[in-house]
Amino acid sequence: MSLIQARGLSHSFEHLLYDDINLDIEEAQSIAILGVSGSGKSTLINNLSTLLKPNKGIVNLNNKRDIYSKTNDEILEIRKNEVGIIFQSHYLFRGFSVLENLQVASILSNKQINMELLKKFGIDGLLKQHIGELSGGQQQRLSIARVLMKNPKIIFADEPTGNLDKNTSIDVIETIFHYIKTNNAAMLIATHDIEIANMCDEKYYLKNYTLNKI
Ligand SMILES: Nc1ncnc2c1ncn2[C@@H]1O[C@H](COP(=O)(O)OP(=O)(O)O)[C@@H](O)[C@H]1O
Ligand SMILES: [Mg+2]
Repeated sequence: MSLIQARGLSHSFEHLLYDDINLDIEEAQSIAILGVSGSGKSTLINNLSTLLKPNKGIVNLNNKRDIYSKTNDEILEIRKNEVGIIFQSHYLFRGFSVLENLQVASILSNKQINMELLKKFGIDGLLKQHIGELSGGQQQRLSIARVLMKNPKIIFADEPTGNLDKNTSIDVIETIFHYIKTNNAAMLIATHDIEIANMCDEKYYLKNYTLNKI
């Protein structure tokens, strides 16, 4: 079965964003969603990633069927165990050190701090530094390492390089792709960056209330 599966997803706030979306993402597969600002990319990621129940439709994540039919506790468990969500803003604790940030993540996820992963991300030498002393790229690499430390089978990335320059973006993205391939994980990424979208296995454009393959 697909790791990420959507059937008949619809969502609206004041206006309809999309209707009857179906999507399947398999192991080791990455899919990009492009679309103008406000088209609903983040909402779709939220619908798929346990964060927001869609108005209609079903989401299955790694054999957990119809996740929103479950209790809140069960949904939280799925978020904790199956899903890694990477945002544009890094949501690190600013006044704290790199190590302290990792310790919080380690406690919440019940997983050890993974020094090998930190080495791969080039942040293993920064443990004592405070978040404010890191560059933008280092901060985002840390926030991504913190997500991947959980060893999720499913990655959602919502404009993960939106705050980074071109070189740092490619650098950060390559670490995520490396994780996807080596862990047979599935990824859905929303991005404005066509170059990053082109690195994915498939691309979709969110427009006219649906996902159009491009
Ligand atoms: N929590 C919310 N409440 C009301 N409207 C929202 C909410 N979240 C998003 N929207 C609206 O839904 C539309 C799609 O937003 P979003 O999914 O963030 O698009 P994108 O990520 O493609 O820029 C926008 O018009 C936005 O203002
Ligand atoms: Mg968005």
